[in-house]
Amino acid sequence: MMRLFIVLITILVLNSCNNTDKKTEKRMPARPELSQDSKIFLGNRLFSEKTCITCHAVATKKIGPSVVDIMHVYKKNNADIVAFLKGHSKPIVDTTASQVAIMQANIDGFLKEITDEELNAIATYMVHVDQLRKK
Ligand code: HEC
Repeated sequence: MMRLFIVLITILVLNSCNNTDKKTEKRMPARPELSQDSKIFLGNRLFSEKTCITCHAVATKKIGPSVVDIMHVYKKNNADIVAFLKGHSKPIVDTTASQVAIMQANIDGFLKEITDEELNAIATYMVHVDQLRKK
């Protein structure tokens, strides 16, 4: 009787260990979304790390349109920056072929390596910088 009891307990314990393992595995990808501040912080970092800053200044035109000019067009059209950076939507800010080709090279190149979370952070940062200018 005692033996059976011990065997039962062992099975129960082993089972519960297994369950926790499965639970942690499942929980891993469901990391909570970054806070607004963390997104802006990460987006700011990526904007220079990923060299966006070399072509896009906040308020003046460099090689590409300024962030303020981009946001102006995107807000007016209720357009999605992440979709554009993923190559899912067409350019709407500067549609000159030679200009589009420069940006398209980024989308086909290093932007392929970037995660959705990072793209999201970049877009959040661009919205934030534009709002700061208006304050
Ligand atoms: C080598 C220069 C260059 C770099 C680097 C660059 N861009 Fe651009 N970008 C351009 C040019 C030129 C345009 C104008 C053509 C266009 O509108 O598609 C543009 C346009 C855009 C647009 C507007 C697209 C539209 O709808 O017309 C967005 C948004 C954008 N860039 C975001 C980024 C982000 C984010 C990065 C960094 C991850 C980046 N760019 C890096 C040159 C660059």
